[in-house]
Amino acid sequence: MKPSPDTCASEFAHAMQEALTRRPHRISPKWFYDTEGSRLFDAICELPEYYPTRTELGLLDRHADDIARRIGPGAEVVEFGAGSLRKVRLLLDALERPAGLLPIDISAEHLHASAAQLQRDRPGLFVRPVALDFTQDFVLPAARGPRVGFFPGSSIGNFEPDEAGPLLARMARWLDGGLLIGVDLVKEPDLLHAAYNDAQGVTARFNRNLLARANAELGADFNLARWAHSAFFHPPLQRIEMHLVSRCDQVVHLCGHALPVQEGESIHTENSYKYTVAGFQRLAESAGFRPEAVWVDSRRWFSIHWLRPAV
Ligand code: AVJ
Repeated sequence: MKPSPDTCASEFAHAMQEALTRRPHRISPKWFYDTEGSRLFDAICELPEYYPTRTELGLLDRHADDIARRIGPGAEVVEFGAGSLRKVRLLLDALERPAGLLPIDISAEHLHASAAQLQRDRPGLFVRPVALDFTQDFVLPAARGPRVGFFPGSSIGNFEPDEAGPLLARMARWLDGGLLIGVDLVKEPDLLHAAYNDAQGVTARFNRNLLARANAELGADFNLARWAHSAFFHPPLQRIEMHLVSRCDQVVHLCGHALPVQEGESIHTENSYKYTVAGFQRLAESAGFRPEAVWVDSRRWFSIHWLRPAV
């Protein structure tokens, strides 16, 4: 496909060009989520090695009544990075007279399909999907009840510590009801390594899909076979890093630019920070939240925090 001048002026085009121009090459993981990327992420959540989804669902199921009591009646739930809307169903089932759900996601087509399915299953619930990038400024429709944020999956781990603080601080200002947030915990590196290097290669496909998306949307000429998936735990920074490593010297063409990449150079596509319970609580407190409750599974793999704006 030949890119139109229009697609090459898109935010994604700028992000890809910048990623391949600066060294080290680096791009925000939010660009993973086109429709195929969202589908691949849903497949990751089903993998035997990918413990976060299963562990968090178990916590939500086990503690739903306790969580619902703390949230209180009539809440309007705003979900950040809503994806397939599987987790919020457990929450909605437990809540007393929820005023509605505003699922936010950057992946518009996937979001609208998930929201339509939820609306079919819950005809009485007010569901208003909002396709946007919540890292940018935005305005939500007027609240229909105490506004409670739901930010599951440890998506907060995608943010650098110096970005996570300000993002949480913005949330503390929007969310008069509070924030329910899932946070993955520091653990045995072998377990972390397996979760991001699954045997079926789904995570590798998810990672490379970024390049397939650039080919499809921007007319780039990435040869996916020339890029190796790499994911590893970096203990000093307590994060998983994902990279796409160039298997050879090559030149990538993107929106009229010829961008050389050497063998062994990588595009750093994602960080996934892991926290301790106390470390995350300190971050939340410095962002203007008061940690009121935390639920952790018996293996201490994953945590769900209930935070109130401190005011
Ligand atoms: C959606 C950011 C929570 O970091 O575990 C899964 C994304 N990347 N496998 C994570 C992801 C590779 C996921 N988050």
